[in-house]
Amino acid sequence: MTDVAERAAAGFRTRYGESPAGRWAAPGRVNLIGEHTDYNDGFVLPFALPLRTVAAAAGQDGARWTVWSELSDETVTFGADEVAEPGRVTGWGAYVAGVVWALRDAGHDVPGARLAIASDVPLGAGLSSSAALEAAVLTALVDLGGLDLPAGRQPRLAQRAENVYVGAPTGIMDQSAAIRCRDGHALFLDCRTEEVEHIPFDLHAAGLAMLVVDSHAPHRHADGEYAARRRSCEAGAARLGVPALRDVGIDQLDTALARLDDPETRRRVRHVVTEDQRVLDTVALLRAGRVREIGPLLTASHVSMRDDFEITVPEIDTAVEAALAAGALGARMTGGGFGGCVLALVEVHAAEAVADAVTAAYAEKGFPAPGHVTVLPAGGATRLD
Ligand code: GLA
Repeated sequence: MTDVAERAAAGFRTRYGESPAGRWAAPGRVNLIGEHTDYNDGFVLPFALPLRTVAAAAGQDGARWTVWSELSDETVTFGADEVAEPGRVTGWGAYVAGVVWALRDAGHDVPGARLAIASDVPLGAGLSSSAALEAAVLTALVDLGGLDLPAGRQPRLAQRAENVYVGAPTGIMDQSAAIRCRDGHALFLDCRTEEVEHIPFDLHAAGLAMLVVDSHAPHRHADGEYAARRRSCEAGAARLGVPALRDVGIDQLDTALARLDDPETRRRVRHVVTEDQRVLDTVALLRAGRVREIGPLLTASHVSMRDDFEITVPEIDTAVEAALAAGALGARMTGGGFGGCVLALVEVHAAEAVADAVTAAYAEKGFPAPGHVTVLPAGGATRLD
């Protein structure tokens, strides 16, 4: 297939009869570790994928936005009325209208624009195609309008587009990854302060590879379950009298758990508190250049998601178990759960064998074949030309 940036430009020319003023790209992401910690004000460690969404764009007069996407080959048009309040534009166009709405709501004078969108980030695989779309559109509009919105403030705005306009109660991780990640690094993000540290993550130098297995599991009730997990965490924090579960340190965990009588809330709290600590431990190992030693932390994260947070599904657990049995140093589900992808940290020379072992385990259980790809950490949203 043609390069994604070329497809966006070609789409723009076909749809609008001229060349775009510029092209802006934003990546999908995987989360190395730190799952369901972002909306608990905790820590996450995502990295950007070399798979990107590209917006080719140019200004147009007035408060009008016209967006074509190669995915549905549809054009969506909206004006000031549709972005006056959330929810008026639905479907994929809502992510674009949501960004315009959030910018205007924050007081920015958003330029009218024509956009053409092309993407290599698969939809529904848990790789944050929605955040990639939001970030590509946001950076395009910021540049076209010369808006005063530094990169550090952009993720919160994109998150508002998703939370308020689209209506999905996600945390700040995906938008931060799409905007702030750096090539060759993982993004250590404190979701309370939004401070970031770019942690070198040189798999190649360590002789390692990161295998991403797409479970191809259908997302079962993912939205409702996500919201339910969020509510449990908030209930746990309220019961413990802290602003967020981030405020429960690992050394206070046992005391905190003893104060919770509901076993389910106890499990949810235990996941979040131990997961925050696993992020800190992973960061410490990476800072020390001890990449291969993070494997057990990844696997422990998976066990916690499976047993305490209860967000994995049989396809995902099968992929993790098969990868570990075939020699992966660590493996875990990445993303919100109930489907999506599994990460396996492997020796470079073992990547194919681990992927084959997962495929064989799937066949044995009668699951549809999984997909797989090896990835290196890429950069965040950027203007291409
Ligand atoms: C989804 C959400 C993120 C985060 C993860 C779980 O990807 O969009 O904000 O909560 O789930 O870590």
